[in-house]
Amino acid sequence: MLRIGMLTSGGDCQALNAAMRGVAKGIFAKVKDVEIYGFRDGYKGLIYSTFDMMTEKDFSGILTRGGTILGTSRQPFKQMRVIGEDGVDKVEAMKHTYHKLNLDCLVILGGNGTHKTANLLREEGLNVITLPKTIDNDLWGTDMTFGFQSAVDIATDTIDRIHTTATSHSRVFIIEVMGHKVGWVTLHAGIAGGADIILLPEIPYDLNVIAEYIKKRSAAGKRFTIIAVAEGAIAKEEAELPKKKLKELQEKKKAKYPSVAYELAEKIESKCDKEVRITVPGHTQRGGSPCPYDRVLATRLGAAAAEMILCHEYGYMVAIKEGETCKVPLKEVAGKLKTVDPKAKIISEARTIGISFGDK
Ligand code: F6P
Repeated sequence: MLRIGMLTSGGDCQALNAAMRGVAKGIFAKVKDVEIYGFRDGYKGLIYSTFDMMTEKDFSGILTRGGTILGTSRQPFKQMRVIGEDGVDKVEAMKHTYHKLNLDCLVILGGNGTHKTANLLREEGLNVITLPKTIDNDLWGTDMTFGFQSAVDIATDTIDRIHTTATSHSRVFIIEVMGHKVGWVTLHAGIAGGADIILLPEIPYDLNVIAEYIKKRSAAGKRFTIIAVAEGAIAKEEAELPKKKLKELQEKKKAKYPSVAYELAEKIESKCDKEVRITVPGHTQRGGSPCPYDRVLATRLGAAAAEMILCHEYGYMVAIKEGETCKVPLKEVAGKLKTVDPKAKIISEARTIGISFGDK
């Protein structure tokens, strides 16, 4: 008898179901005597022992379905060791559920925070395999996470649609793309959607540079300027502040602006004689059906995870590198962020065709 626990944790994204389907199909194809425990709402399900027994049928017909059939929740890593009001030590509770159900392993689908907790469970002696999900593509150790390409498709579609109305009205448009810490989605959607200015958390911007760029475009007879800004984009002078001061400033700004795009719009309007409008696609970027690329990637990663389970290989994240699936030790992944390198070729190539990153 093989007993597998499965859970999805953190913000959802496209292709979570496709990945779980890949794991389950790979397992059921080889082993019939198997029980899959689908923990509800991420680590919460493991902590409070709430789960559904999943059959082969539960994993059928879900390849194209968005969201996660198991539900998810955010369980911050820094609270994992904190005993809450309910008196529960979360790590001990998760270990208890695992041993009580006599599980052979846990398959955990998640992003950065999820991987930190998964590694903690590994250190506590549980057999863990993880799959890299997140629209942010910021997991170290894999070239690509599933969800990313689908989010890029959606953000690009938004930018495409804004182009026509921006031209008609001769406006500056700011499209705010998801990504608080990293700018992968903004960078790719910005290039794919033909944005004129791309602002990333990794490349602090100078408002004067942005204003000059917009004025130059107007002087050259260009009717519009499209700015793709990541949620976490930051001005140069703020990036130079000590951490504590920056946090205070960000708290103040939170009370004034709903998000970064609103602050930017106000600043640009004060410097340029242009109407500025904002579009925030928000969680649509994580919603709906996965794109074909993500379906293939998630299926491959799921199948590779199934192969590893059948070989009793645990303690790894299943990754994709140079087109091939591979395994990366969890201890190497946990706590590392894959950010956009400002010196990467993709950045210099974008600069070559005239895209501004607002820095020079
Ligand atoms: O981590 C993925 C992500 O989509 C980020 O890009 C975004 O900033 C955040 O989640 C939004 O989180 P929530 O779903 O909690 O609003």
